[in-house]
Amino acid sequence: MTLPDLTPDRASLDPMETASIDEIRKLQLDRLKWSLRHAFDNVPLYRDRFAAAGVHPDDLTSLADLAKFPFTYKDDLRAHYPFGMFAVPREQITRIHASSGTTGQPTVVGYTQNDVSMWADMVARSLRAGGTRPGDVVHVAYGYGLFTGGLGAHYGAERLGCTVVPVSGGMTERQVNLIRDFGASTILVTPSYMLNILEQFEAMGLDPADTNLNTGIFGAEPWTNAMRGKIEAAFGMHAVDIYGLSEILGPGVASECVETKDGLHIWEDHFYPEIIDPVTGDVLPDGSEGELVFTTLTKEGLPMIRYRTRDLTRLLPGTARTLRRMEKITGRSDDMMILRGVNVFPTQIEEQVLKVAGLAPHFQIELSRNGAMDTMMVLAEGLPDHADDATRAAMGAALAQAIKDGIGITAQVDIRAPGGVERSQGKARRVVDNRPKD
Ligand code: DLL
Repeated sequence: MTLPDLTPDRASLDPMETASIDEIRKLQLDRLKWSLRHAFDNVPLYRDRFAAAGVHPDDLTSLADLAKFPFTYKDDLRAHYPFGMFAVPREQITRIHASSGTTGQPTVVGYTQNDVSMWADMVARSLRAGGTRPGDVVHVAYGYGLFTGGLGAHYGAERLGCTVVPVSGGMTERQVNLIRDFGASTILVTPSYMLNILEQFEAMGLDPADTNLNTGIFGAEPWTNAMRGKIEAAFGMHAVDIYGLSEILGPGVASECVETKDGLHIWEDHFYPEIIDPVTGDVLPDGSEGELVFTTLTKEGLPMIRYRTRDLTRLLPGTARTLRRMEKITGRSDDMMILRGVNVFPTQIEEQVLKVAGLAPHFQIELSRNGAMDTMMVLAEGLPDHADDATRAAMGAALAQAIKDGIGITAQVDIRAPGGVERSQGKARRVVDNRPKD
């Protein structure tokens, strides 16, 4: 299958995307000095924490000096709920977003007018990197509301000069109709919800390759290159990865370039990345796998100094842009499962599910405890023409074997009839933890 060449014209890129590394580092150092000072002067938490660590913004004379400064955590936002970490008076905040708060106190973030504008610039840059052009019809199926996905994508697509269709998530049949009727060439949606849209095309007897879509910009949850292959083949379009988190921005912290699809270029002129050892907190050299930590360089409303994302990846040199890349996220440290001493992430299970012919791409993992031992059950399902008992049993055996061979763990497998695995309309719930809380 040949996909259209959507490589953007070099002249259309922002100067910083192709600046020399020296220019980028110089800009980062200037901006980092400003950001540390801004946080210290305006947020009591930073003032207290810098003092406790015996550091002051003036101590930073090189980018490496950042390692002397203390980390910031999600719990800090919770402890200062709702607005206690804002660095400007509340009246200067033009937008609030928040996490859903299903697992405790929600985390609230705020943006000034300049922050919202910078965010739109970063999403516009991400869209262009993914192959979108001014004038394209852009279908936004990320959720609108307190979640940053919908509005973040929306403002970026408008900034690039696109025709935006603000559908939000849900009502999947309507998604299919609007994609076809309005002729969208770009779609922004979580990869797991894209699979539901795919299923809906099939249920309506429509060929998903028979639309105007030529690129999809997928993020908000981990997904694999195997999933990329599946989506690209079904829709006959490019699938690129976009990363972000509310605490730092929302979508548009890093994004993949359609011409290379080799990891996500970090928009380093606004977000300074570090990789640390999650246990010791030590900064690791580029190329090492560890926890991603971000410091905002220009944000006014909610500056974040050395924010611990809990996302695991590696930093790599730039390719299609000079800015450094991060590898596709392996998973969050919170999602890491340990089975008989082997660390496992849901993305590894995804790779194995997609290897077994006849299985649908939907899956969920259930964790239980048997005595002192954690056990894993992988729920998957057969495609409609692979749904009889004998075929499901054979696919179950094949999946268990693939997990054993590919990851080195023994998992139980339950292959259900089509529709038997929970579907998502936003971020998929990959792990259901039934282990007793101790
Ligand atoms: O998910 C922002 C976003 C919206 C990004 C739309 C991309 C597209 P939060 O809800 O705060 O923000 O969740 C942030 O989601 O720390 C990662 O664990 C995960 N995540 C986001 N993008 C990716 C990605 C949005 N491309 C958390 N790959 C992050 C893997 C991702 N994980």
